[in-house]
Amino acid sequence: MPHSGGRKRLTPMRCHGAPLLRHDDESADLPVTEHATPIEHFITTQLESHHDRAAFSCGNAPLDNYLHDCAVSDATELSKITFVLVDLADQRTMHGYCSLSSTSIQFGAVPASVTKQLRISRHRAMSATLIGRLAVSNRLQGKRIGEELLFDALKRAYIAAQQVGSALAIAHAIDADAERFYKTFGFVALENIAHGLFLTTATVAPLLRLKVALDGCTAARQI
Ligand SMILES: CC(C)(COP(=O)(O)OP(=O)(O)OC[C@H]1O[C@@H](n2cnc3c(N)ncnc32)[C@H](O)[C@@H]1OP(=O)(O)O)[C@@H](O)C(=O)NCCC(=O)NCCS
Repeated sequence: MPHSGGRKRLTPMRCHGAPLLRHDDESADLPVTEHATPIEHFITTQLESHHDRAAFSCGNAPLDNYLHDCAVSDATELSKITFVLVDLADQRTMHGYCSLSSTSIQFGAVPASVTKQLRISRHRAMSATLIGRLAVSNRLQGKRIGEELLFDALKRAYIAAQQVGSALAIAHAIDADAERFYKTFGFVALENIAHGLFLTTATVAPLLRLKVALDGCTAARQI
C-alpha cells in the first residue's frame, strides 16, 4: 500500500505527521489548489443532503450501502451521526466517512487491568463511544486519510465524553484487515466481541496531543 509523507513510530501508539483535520466550524479562509490537495485543505463535517453519497465507494459493500441507504435516516433519528471528509474546494464530493454513536459494553469485555484502573464495579456496564464505521474512498486509500479520519473521530469522541461521560472509545472493525488498521494506533481487542477493539477515553487526550506535537515535525503533505 503506497504512502506519502513522513513517518514516526511511537510505542505503543503510532502517529504520522499531519495536522488533525479541521471540523467545518474551524475551516475559515484556507486557500485551495487546483492540483494535489494538502491535507490541510480537507475538513470533516456532518453528513447533509448536498453530499454526494451515491458516488462514494470504499470497495466494501456493507460500508458503502450504509452510507447510501441508512446514514441520513440514522442521523435524523440521532441514533448515529456520520461525519464526512470533503475538500474545501469541492464540498459535495465525499472522500471518506465515519459514524459515531453511544453504546455500552459489559464489564468482562475489557481486561481486568483496565477496569481496575478505571475503578469500574464488576456489575456495571461501561459507557462507550462507538466508531461503528470508517471508510476512505477507493481513490484515496493508502494516503493516510484513514488515519486522519480516525483521529478526527477520536477528537469528537473525547469532546463528547466531556459532556456525556464515556469511558471507552470502541471500534467495530468490519473484518480482520480493518482490525489490524485499528491496532496500528494502539486499539486493543475486546474479549468475546468479534472485531471489537477499544481505547480508554482517558488515553485519547495524550494521543491527540502527541499527534498535534508531531504536526510540526513533518513537511506538509500532498494527497
Ligand atoms: C481501512 C481504511 C479505512 C484505511 O484507510 P487508509 O487511508 O487506506 O489507511 P492509512 O493510509 O491511513 O493507513 C494507516 C495505517 O493503517 C494500515 N492499514 C491501512 N489499511 C489497512 C488494512 N486494510 N489492513 C491492515 N492495515 C491497514 C496502513 O498500513 C498504515 O499502517 P503503517 O503505519 O504501519 O504504515 C481504508 O483502506 C478503507 O476504507 N478500507 C475499506 C473499508 C474498511 O475496511 N474500513 C475499516 C473500518 S470499519
